[in-house]
Amino acid sequence: MIETPRLRLRRLRPSDEGDLIALDSDPEVMRHVGSPAGTRPADETAARVRQRIAEDQAPLGFWLVESRAGVAHGLCALLRMPAGDDIELAYRLARDSWGQGIATEAARALVGHAFGALRLPRLVAVTYPDNLASQRVLEKVGFTQRGFVDYTGVRVVHYVITPEALGVS
Ligand SMILES: CC(C)(COP(=O)(O)OP(=O)(O)OC[C@H]1O[C@@H](n2cnc3c(N)ncnc32)[C@H](O)[C@@H]1OP(=O)(O)O)[C@@H](O)C(=O)NCCC(=O)NCCS
Repeated sequence: MIETPRLRLRRLRPSDEGDLIALDSDPEVMRHVGSPAGTRPADETAARVRQRIAEDQAPLGFWLVESRAGVAHGLCALLRMPAGDDIELAYRLARDSWGQGIATEAARALVGHAFGALRLPRLVAVTYPDNLASQRVLEKVGFTQRGFVDYTGVRVVHYVITPEALGVS
């Protein structure tokens, strides 16, 4: 469990299934998520959510982002990039939770965990070029933009952060 002033980041539970299926079924949430981006057929979405809950990728994997009172906001994750050794920071929130600094607070906490407890040497993040809100989150957290990379056949903006750049080494 990772705690911030407003949030808890905790591992997924079977009881999260409904919230997670709703999250991944919202076309606005999924507009810039996945390659290709967008929602999937309902059966595929449900199967992916169940697999995500069942799969233990510790110390990497998915965390539920919820309020201190236990209201679900969304997901954040540390995931292996499809190519190479890098670990990617990823996040998505339900629409009701946008615009309150929640993604920035959750991302900052997970970066702190990655460089603290997990001792990762660096993290990367990728966004679609028109996902300005996500790019702003990464900049606020302290990521540096490093041009474009290919992500499973899609051209995305590439971001990097290191403990040294954050001053936590
Ligand atoms: C992207 C997302 C995670 C942002 O979450 P959030 O909690 O609203 O983010 P925050 O409030 O911490 O910060 C958002 C920043 O982007 C800015 N922003 C929001 N929409 C914007 C837009 N269309 N253009 C430019 N900036 C924008 C906000 O003003 C804020 O910056 P500020 O603090 O300087 O004002 C959320 O919108 C989301 O889940 N989107 C769908 C899934 C997704 O795209 N995930 C990322 C995939 S890479």
